[in-house]
Amino acid sequence: MDTKQEKIVCLGKTFATEEERRVYFRNELRSKLPELKKIDGFPIGEDDDIIALSDPPYYTACPNPWLNDFIDEWEREKVSKKSRNISFQVNEPYGYDVKEGVNNPVYNAHSYHTKVPHPAIMRFLLHYTQPGDIVIDSFAGTGMCGVAANACENPDAETRHKIEAEWKAAFGQLPFWGRRNALLSDLSPIASFISHNYNSKIDLEQFLNSSDELFAKVERECNWMFETSHSGKVKGKINYTVWSECLSCPNCNNEIVLYNAIADNKSNFLSELFHCEKCKSELEKKDCDKITATIYDDFLNSSLTQIKYVPVLINYSVGTKRHEKKPDANCM
Ligand SMILES: C[S@@+](CC[C@H](N)C(=O)[O-])C[C@H]1O[C@@H](n2cnc3c(N)ncnc32)[C@H](O)[C@@H]1O
Ligand SMILES: [Zn+2]
Repeated sequence: MDTKQEKIVCLGKTFATEEERRVYFRNELRSKLPELKKIDGFPIGEDDDIIALSDPPYYTACPNPWLNDFIDEWEREKVSKKSRNISFQVNEPYGYDVKEGVNNPVYNAHSYHTKVPHPAIMRFLLHYTQPGDIVIDSFAGTGMCGVAANACENPDAETRHKIEAEWKAAFGQLPFWGRRNALLSDLSPIASFISHNYNSKIDLEQFLNSSDELFAKVERECNWMFETSHSGKVKGKINYTVWSECLSCPNCNNEIVLYNAIADNKSNFLSELFHCEKCKSELEKKDCDKITATIYDDFLNSSLTQIKYVPVLINYSVGTKRHEKKPDANCM
């Protein structure tokens, strides 16, 4: 998919714009929904929402009816790929340690549990497949396997250099660079949505404009929540606030703010033992019950009982300098 090209060709059909392509395939998806809904595990959601979220045929927020069409197209394409070797065979498993950190801007663009850095996956794709091959990841999470399949065509300089050095040492030759085609799927709608965004070409200018607009809007609406008074009229920007549990003294029922009782600000240590300010008895956390508070949740329309937490420390910045203070009347 190329957002800048004149004519858009998608699964054998030609469109003047991406929007035209999207409208055509969204209508197609709508007509296929009754059949797709018979598939076990079809997501719970309104038809209009599923259609609006989807960018068919590349991404559908439900089972994708075009998977076989993509496979057919990729199978046809690969016949003419010069970088392919008819006698390609994998005779040995990939048996080398793969070490990849997570300090990678692609990885960090969106967090997800058990996420794998894409250069790690590239090693396996380069070993087991050749350009034009199709890989399927049906537990794709945020789609890092797809990112890796694309990056096999155009790796960043550092990854290319690292992998080529490994390949020369292990196999005495360079890997076969070139795009692999990935089919990605996941049970979780949010995972496949993130995966779609990781694996689609975007209009960078439009993206930057929209994200700047969004950041400005969020700042306008939410900045006040992160302001705290420093001195006089000077305001600081809160980096984080520490909240503490509240406990009840087993001897006199006095309310104890745990952090205040155990934190020694001079030594930066937290002690196991502390004293009740009122009855002076020596206590440990395990001796005390946690104090709870009952709140009414407007969204759930019911009462909830929660452990009582209070703010005990604010870390904030004025310019580039960081400060800390106990919450005061003008802080939050
Ligand atoms: C370990 S995570 C994959 C993370 C992925 N490697 C990445 O880089 O983001 C496993 C994924 O499998 C999905 N999953 C679990 N059971 C599944 C099932 N029966 N069908 C499809 N996906 C499933 C989970 O939603 C989760 O996103
Ligand atoms: Zn007490």
